[in-house]
Amino acid sequence: MSNQNELFKKLISHCKEYGFIFQSSEIYDSLAATYDYGPFGVELKNNIKHYWWKSMVDMNENIVGLDSSVLMHPKVWEASGHVDAFNDPLIDNKDSKKRYRADQLIEDHINKIQLKIDKDILKAEMKFGSNFNKKKYCETNKRVSERISKIQEIKDKLDSSLKKNKLSDIKNLIENLEIKCPISGTKNWTDVRQFNLMFKTNFGSTDESASEGYLRPETAQGIFVNFLNVQKTARAKIPFGIAQIGKAFRNEIVARQFIFRMREFEQMEMQFFVRPGEEINYYNFWKDQRLKWHLNLGFDNDMFRFHNHQNLAHYANAAVDIEYKFPFGFKELEGIHSRTDFDLKSHQQYSKRKIQYFDSELNKSYIPHVIETSIGLDRMFLAIMCNSYKEEVMNDNEKRIVLSIPPFLAPIKLAILPLTRKDGLSDKAKKIFNDLKLEFNCYYEEKDSIGKRYRRQDAIGTPFCLTIDHQTLEDETCTLRYRDKMNQKRLKIKEVFEIIDKEVNLKNFII
Ligand code: GAP
Repeated sequence: MSNQNELFKKLISHCKEYGFIFQSSEIYDSLAATYDYGPFGVELKNNIKHYWWKSMVDMNENIVGLDSSVLMHPKVWEASGHVDAFNDPLIDNKDSKKRYRADQLIEDHINKIQLKIDKDILKAEMKFGSNFNKKKYCETNKRVSERISKIQEIKDKLDSSLKKNKLSDIKNLIENLEIKCPISGTKNWTDVRQFNLMFKTNFGSTDESASEGYLRPETAQGIFVNFLNVQKTARAKIPFGIAQIGKAFRNEIVARQFIFRMREFEQMEMQFFVRPGEEINYYNFWKDQRLKWHLNLGFDNDMFRFHNHQNLAHYANAAVDIEYKFPFGFKELEGIHSRTDFDLKSHQQYSKRKIQYFDSELNKSYIPHVIETSIGLDRMFLAIMCNSYKEEVMNDNEKRIVLSIPPFLAPIKLAILPLTRKDGLSDKAKKIFNDLKLEFNCYYEEKDSIGKRYRRQDAIGTPFCLTIDHQTLEDETCTLRYRDKMNQKRLKIKEVFEIIDKEVNLKNFII
């Protein structure tokens, strides 16, 4: 097992052990691809939402919020194209009876070739040290350059078959690459078929009167169908945006990699409405802006890359993914799409209501074009956890697991720990806790040795611990311990608020 795989497995058990994420319905042996957020998980999730909402809605005078329903009129999904086109190509292995996304089988094959390339590069890097020129090596080393060309060839074939919806070509590609089922190890595949990802549901009180509908597969359509309601009531002028955070549901064929691909998940989406012809400028603007938002969390630059779509969705004239380097490779974290006027135009046609904007500067009405930024909240959560999880050996050779979550996102900001329960230390510590608990999320703990309590706070990512000891009773001082460097500082209780507020208040970090 690779180091990254091992680390990812450890992270998953850490999430469970420390109350971040549980499998849904665990006492009934769980429901695949659905997860519940525990006490510290829900705090982190809320803090990410808050960071997104503040930077989208509160920091931009021309962006307003919305909270639309999960259930919508079934026609919405006809108009949006989801009924006809929201499909994934699936394939079954006849021996293991396991079902796969055909395109993902091919992508996994590509990843295996990429891993071999990365191994060769690493070896060469170690051999040549500071003289190593990666670009030149990839161009001149025969084995590496052949593998790079092979990847490109496979990608081109896959993109072209997906674009033309040629399912038989995808099957041929799987056969030609000699891809085997990871379970049975055989190449005994069925044909490739299309599978619609929307969850069907019934509206109505009896079976006879019930009509069929869907759980929304994206939050975006709630924004489009409310375009006029919001524009008029918010007296919004183009360019302006509508932002929304909410649940989305997709019957993913293969849901895996923990919370990366789930059947129920949350999206944070913003649709930005612009004059026709101005969309590409705004597309580039939002592309930059969104990357800045990620980098502001202290991630390294090389943990992200842009992936421009060759195979555009039915509604887009430009699209890019911001990919994050998860332990299982670079994968989509956020999408930025120039959706043209497709959605509003289509809803106008299906609803037979005029959905247009009167532009008083141009003195004409038109259907605005849309730039969308769409990020999965759960994937963002996972990226933060992957980036934060560290196993460290301390000076005394003891190990600690620490989550170096950016302090303004940490579930708990300050743990208040009396050295012992005796001699009035608990009372003093509780008073400090009560004074600060409405300022930031605090945690009070008096059980176990101070060392064990520090370890527990490190493991949930608490950036500050405050220890109350006998000296506190004499001179109103306490010890502040910093999570990352584990250094400590003696200070007056009345100084605590200002120091911590500076480090955890979103006000100081928002962009
Ligand atoms: N409105 C556009 C849209 O929904 P998408 O690329 O299908 O575009 C946007 O989804 C984001 O939602 C993705 O970048 C990803 O972060 C998240 N996402 C999509 N499917 C997901 C799933 N099954 N589980 C978790 N997150 C998912």
